[in-house]
Amino acid sequence: MLKEFITEYNTYYFNSNNFTLSTSLDNSNNDIGKEHDNNILRKVVINISNSCNLSCAYCYADGGNYGMTSQLMDITTADKIIEQLSTSGVRCIKRLILFGGEPFLNIDLFVYLIEELSKNIELNKIETVTNGTVLNKKVKETIERYHPFLTISLDGPQLIHDRLRGKGSHRRTLKFIEYLKEINYENFEIASTYTRMHQKYGFQKEDIYDYFTQMDVRFNINNVFSKNKILAVKEMEMSEEKRKLFINQSLEDIINNNDKNYISPIVYDVLLSMIFKSKAESFCDDIDPETTITFDVDGTVKSCFRFWGTHNSDKVSHFNNKDNFTKCKDCWCKGMCVECVANMIDGYSPIISEEGQFIDCRKQILMEYCIYKIIELSQDKERLSKLVNNFERFIRYA
Ligand SMILES: C[S@@+](CC[C@H](N)C(=O)[O-])C[C@H]1O[C@@H](n2cnc3c(N)ncnc32)[C@H](O)[C@@H]1O
Ligand code: SF4
Ligand code: SF4
Repeated sequence: MLKEFITEYNTYYFNSNNFTLSTSLDNSNNDIGKEHDNNILRKVVINISNSCNLSCAYCYADGGNYGMTSQLMDITTADKIIEQLSTSGVRCIKRLILFGGEPFLNIDLFVYLIEELSKNIELNKIETVTNGTVLNKKVKETIERYHPFLTISLDGPQLIHDRLRGKGSHRRTLKFIEYLKEINYENFEIASTYTRMHQKYGFQKEDIYDYFTQMDVRFNINNVFSKNKILAVKEMEMSEEKRKLFINQSLEDIINNNDKNYISPIVYDVLLSMIFKSKAESFCDDIDPETTITFDVDGTVKSCFRFWGTHNSDKVSHFNNKDNFTKCKDCWCKGMCVECVANMIDGYSPIISEEGQFIDCRKQILMEYCIYKIIELSQDKERLSKLVNNFERFIRYA
């Protein structure tokens, strides 16, 4: 499909199959083929601990155990996973994510999985998500030896963080971050969950943004998904005007290489498609057993970690197919559109209800605005080249 963009410079045609912009109507319809090497897995996520030492007010994982009995993954289960992966011909795992609950509560298995898997399989990137409160000798040794990419959860200043995550947790997580700074460890980012409680205590999102900017860390801030009125953010959506300003700011941040700044998801999705020709065939392309596998704590295979424990669902493939929703089926920007299917099924999506009804979508307007901005800045070749060349540094999940 070709979408017209009329500007003061020219009329451009955006080809929504291959994400190219052209001034000619002949913008060829070469579709982007889905290349896949059966021996390479894009992502493997393993629940090594559905135990947790915190009990955060908003936790979608029910305090870390996903509605099951709290337990650490044992070696027998890990061996079965290693055997399954090693004998299935997998040569390379691009992202190995050791997850939980709190993964550092099972540090021995963390190390065991890396050591054993890497005997037969190339591990491109090892990652984990931690609450940053478990910092013992073994955890330090593991970080220094295997250099995992760490996502550390920190919700803002002490008052709000401790209110949500428990008294004393802020101090412990800051200690963890201080340790990383002491050893000049840059392979981490902060993930902050923003809630109504922040608003109640007077913390606007901008305040949290400033807090992390002053800490001089790479970070992202996500709204909580919750049906609890005390937690769900009031005015979940930023106004359209604010989102457009955020798009402008994000484009400038990329041009100026401010790679610690969190950029607009709209800019992210548009540039990923236009520059890297990445096409979102479904709402979540990670839900694809050919490229992504997740193992629950008992070793069972699930399509995504959000379906671990009691959260399993048989509606995943229906919700993941854009063609099952009339508005999406004929949408010019569907190839750039990524949405969380678990959030739809659990009723947290502003676009598709848990009953499977299309609600509303502002993305088309925002993606259109973003492409107009790209056309505008492309009149200055130097700025365009900076945008294209710098963007790679902003990619969080390769
Ligand atoms: C389930 S935790 C597991 C890892 C580790 N225990 C931690 O807290 O970082 C993974 C991430 O999900 C976030 N999270 C948990 N519940 C959430 C919710 N309801 N909405 C948005 N993010 C949530 C946490 O803040 C954390 O960054
Ligand atoms: S630390 Fe992580 S897993 Fe534990 S309760 Fe908090 S969000 Fe859930
Ligand atoms: S209508 Fe919205 S949700 Fe549906 S494919 Fe288009 S951008 Fe995505």
